[in-house]
Amino acid sequence: MRVAILGAAGKTGYQLITEALERGHDIIGIARTPENIALQSPRITKLQGDAFDRQSIVDSLAGADAVITSVGKTDLRDKRFNLNTAGHENVLAGMQKHGIRRLIPISSIGASKLPRKGIRRNVYLFLRRKYYGDMNDMEVQVLNSGLDVTVVRAPYLHNGPALNAYEVVVGDVLPAGRAVSRKDLAKFIFDTLDNGSYGQSIVSIADPLGGRG
Ligand SMILES: NC(=O)c1ccc[n+]([C@@H]2O[C@H](COP(=O)([O-])OP(=O)(O)OC[C@H]3O[C@@H](n4cnc5c(N)ncnc54)[C@H](OP(=O)(O)O)[C@@H]3O)[C@@H](O)[C@H]2O)c1
Repeated sequence: MRVAILGAAGKTGYQLITEALERGHDIIGIARTPENIALQSPRITKLQGDAFDRQSIVDSLAGADAVITSVGKTDLRDKRFNLNTAGHENVLAGMQKHGIRRLIPISSIGASKLPRKGIRRNVYLFLRRKYYGDMNDMEVQVLNSGLDVTVVRAPYLHNGPALNAYEVVVGDVLPAGRAVSRKDLAKFIFDTLDNGSYGQSIVSIADPLGGRG
């Protein structure tokens, strides 16, 4: 399979490409600065693409069989708080143009509307205005696209080793305070892609409870 990864120069992007190569897939790695995609392989095509720039995203998806998006705000001075919705509008346009049906966007468990109390509620409401609202809108946008979509909500991400196990919750509830390694997140995403599982759903994943000290 030829898999396009938007956010390919990021920390999760690195793990996604590593996992893809191990499974024999070809990669279109899309990044604002493609030279920052650290991995080298003849099976990686590195292309320039900015999520806010429709033409670059539409062009870079040509020839892909599936798309994974792993974009997150890295410049906190950037006042655009619509990275996810604007970026996915462009991704969906590219997928429609090139006849690509499978999309796996990475979202956050923060996009769920879990009840929160006290200070946690205030922090959540602040983050929701800045980031999670855009993610939640993106989830609705991609699930209504008519394409084959699995939204993967991640908890706190860390760079620890793979456990090769994770807890998966279908729907939007996973208790707060959990984490998952970027390696296991990448494994889960490629398991989902390779098996064609969790179509038209939102899934949350985390390290299994008790799996890490
Ligand atoms: N970190 C967490 O704890 C956490 C928790 C829950 C969910 N998530 C989600 O999980 C995913 C991966 O997170 P991460 O921490 O591994 O991410 P990361 O390493 O910060 O990577 C995010 C990538 O998004 C790219 N990006 C930002 N704006 C872009 C734009 N306009 N056009 C194209 N690319 C753009 C960045 O590119 P540049 O290299 O050019 O800046 C960066 O490579 C993200 O979707 C994030 O929202 C993260």
